[in-house]
Order: sequence, then C-alpha cells, then structure tokens
Amino acid sequence: MESLDNQGALRMITLFSGAVKGMAFYPASHPAIRQPLLELDKVLGSALGRAAEVSWGIIDGVMFFEEHLFITPSTAIADLSNRMLEKDIGRVIMSAGLTFDELERFVRLFSAKGSGFELLGAQIMQEGITHIRLVRQGEETFENQPDEDPYDSDDNGDSLATYGQALKAIQSICRDIERGRIPHSAPVIRVVDRMVGITMQDPSTLLGLTMIKDYDNYTFNHCVNVGVLAMALGASLGMDTMSVKSLGIAGQLHDIGKTMIPKLILNKPGKLSSAEFDEMKRHPELGAKIIREMKGLDPHIAQIVLGHHLHFNRSGYPEWAQKLPFNQMIDIVAIADTYDAITTLRVYQHPVNPRAALTEMQKIVGTYLDGALVAAFVEMMGKYPVGTLVRLDTNEVAVVYRPNPLDEEAPTVRILIEGDGTRLSVPIERSLAEQNGVRYANVVAVVDPHLKNINVGKFVVSGNY
Ligand SMILES: [Fe+2]
Ligand SMILES: [Fe+2]
Repeated sequence: MESLDNQGALRMITLFSGAVKGMAFYPASHPAIRQPLLELDKVLGSALGRAAEVSWGIIDGVMFFEEHLFITPSTAIADLSNRMLEKDIGRVIMSAGLTFDELERFVRLFSAKGSGFELLGAQIMQEGITHIRLVRQGEETFENQPDEDPYDSDDNGDSLATYGQALKAIQSICRDIERGRIPHSAPVIRVVDRMVGITMQDPSTLLGLTMIKDYDNYTFNHCVNVGVLAMALGASLGMDTMSVKSLGIAGQLHDIGKTMIPKLILNKPGKLSSAEFDEMKRHPELGAKIIREMKGLDPHIAQIVLGHHLHFNRSGYPEWAQKLPFNQMIDIVAIADTYDAITTLRVYQHPVNPRAALTEMQKIVGTYLDGALVAAFVEMMGKYPVGTLVRLDTNEVAVVYRPNPLDEEAPTVRILIEGDGTRLSVPIERSLAEQNGVRYANVVAVVDPHLKNINVGKFVVSGNY
C-alpha cells in the first residue's frame, strides 16, 4: 500500500461515503451511485493488486484508511463515521479478489438504516460476499492476533514483555466489567510488581514504550502508559515501593469507569453536548466503585481513581468530591494522564511531540496541574524524552532512544533517515555524547513524526523494528 497517498485514501473513503448516501435516493443503477462505485472499484482493485487486504474504519472517533488518519473529517467522512458507530463497526477489511458486484451489494446492505453489526454480518454471509469482512468496534485485540503480538516475544526484553502483560491485564478487566462481572485484581497486581523493579532500576525502556501509540488499542495503551508514567514520576520523587506500586495500579485502572459509559459518547467525533459530557464525567466515580468491589486492592487506589480529574486547584469533577481530602497521588496520576493524552492522537487533535507536550503542561500549572510535580516530571523526562523524533545537524532524522543523564543535549539516538533523505531499513544507533573530544552530531530541531509518517514507538524497543 505504499503508493497510496493521503489524497488517494481520502478519495476512497469519500467515494464510499458518497455511494452509501446515494443509495437513500437512487436505485443502484443510477449514475450518482454507479459512478463513485466504478471509480472506487478501480482504485480498490489496484490497491488490492499490491496488497492482500486493505482495511479502513474508525478508532476512537478517528477515521482511517490503512495507515492514513483523517483527523479533521470532511462532511463525507463525519457522515460515514456516524454510520459506522451506529452499526458498531470498527473496521471493514476488503481482500484481493473483491468483485464489483460484491462491492455494490455491500454498499447497498451497509446503507440500510438500522442494520447493526450482527445483521449486516449475517447478510454479507447470506449474499455470498466473501471478500469483505467486518470487525466490531474495539474487538481487535492482541488475543485476536496472536501471531502479531510483539509483546509476547521472549527476546524483546523484560520491559516489553511486561508491557504486553499489562495490556492483557487491563483488557481482561475491561471485558469483565462489560460482562457485568467484578474483575480479579491479581493480574494487574502481578504486572505492577514486575514493573516496580524495572522502574526503580531504569525506567527508560518502559517510558519509551509509552510512545507506542497504537490507535487500534488506544484505551488499553493509555491505561498502561498512565500507570508507567505515574510510577516513574513517583520513583523519581523518592517515594517508597508501596506508594510506587499504588501509583502503578491506580494509573492503570484510572479510566476503567469509561467501560460503563456508552460507546456512542466515548467515540463521538467532535464536541460532546453538555448532557453527554455530564455522562462522561461519571467515569472516575464509576471506576472507583468497581475498584472498591475488587478483592485485594487497597481502598486508597479507589480514592486516587476517584480524584484523577479533580485538578490541582480541585475545581474539576466529580463536583461533590472537590472538598474531600486527597493526597498528592491524584496530582501525579493527573500529570501522567495529561502527558499521555496530549502526546497521543485523539479526535480532532494531532498528537504533540514529547518535548512540546512538556511545554504545554507547564502552561496549566497552578490550575490543572501541580507546578512542583510538573517540574519534577520535566526533569525526569529530560530535554528530549525517549521517543522524540529529532533532526541532527548532519540533516539526519533520528529517534531518541536513551537519555543521557550527564548531558541532556546528547542522548543516544537511532538514525532512521539519512542526510540525503534515504530511509534506513535498519536504524543506526549513535551516541551523541562526545567521544575523544568529538561529537557525532547535535540536535537542531524536533520533527513531527506524522509529517514523516514514522511510528516512533517501534524504534524505541530493543532490536524490534
Ligand atoms: Fe479519566
Ligand atoms: Fe485518562
């Protein structure tokens, strides 16, 4: 799919949306439908000549086609997003061999109002459409893709395996809640026990892993990332092991209350109405309630989760909890939560690079965030946090791989693009620290990974490209 650019991807989604809309007004043979379908068939056909499958869908309200994301949706995309959400479809996968006839029939079935995921899936089978399949919202999990689970591999190191276990633990907790069960606490406690050891020794690999912004699994990654970041901040402040563990557990569970918020609100593209926002604001208390019912978790974990949106000046939500006594733990989790949210793609929001994120956070000190804690966080993350994409004065583009505690200007980096623009298939690792009085290069600027279409997360993991 390399040759499909953003414009091409946008065109395909727009054509599909147009054909779906047209079905409401015209018979399938009408040019208003036939024209976009013919063009779509042609472009899809050539895309499927290069790849076995193409897929598109919606994750956290953001439409995507293959690796292309449409952060600011056009009317056509917003309309298609809403239809996908209504039908609870997360992804449509089209495979090589797709015929025009199948495409036309699929568009007709898809355009029918009121046909949800199950009905549509059954109709696709009935009509013998074999080259299109659907995946339900949020159902693409690591369990569904065992061969592609990068976290299971033994040789990827402790941090990576632990991060993967954490993802699975939070995933199964959310699944239990969805099924109306009280989740077990043991898996998350176990994983945090492992993370404490790593965090106390050298948190840089785990911190680097928080740069894996997998938008298929955004919610779970966010939970794990907030746990990792909160633990690292707690450890850097000299907190004891028990407190660091509490931060890890509370961080990982901070948003589990969202599991009980309707998906249409959670994934809504665009601004929430005030009634919807009121509903969303219930997630801290819903999460705290579940945690209180989970065996083996200290009650103060529930308190941290309850308070994670109260803000430093305690003007946040839940309003009824503003006057309750909370300790600094909620402000630590709030910092981790804010940092991960602004460095991650969200609906209508481009992710901010790590360094710019730290600057953004300094602007909301005193109101939303605790100034002393933000200062400690900035100090801990360093000038160029692991995962930052930088341009060197050799014109090479590299990702920061390891911080250098002795010289924050000279981290170890992995060079991804050579000075003449050639992309390297295997990155070259270089320390920017002086060696025999000479420096390999200096960082001159931070680069937006999206402009370069680079998923930095995968380059901060040892040997895993
Ligand atoms: Fe939250
Ligand atoms: Fe959050």
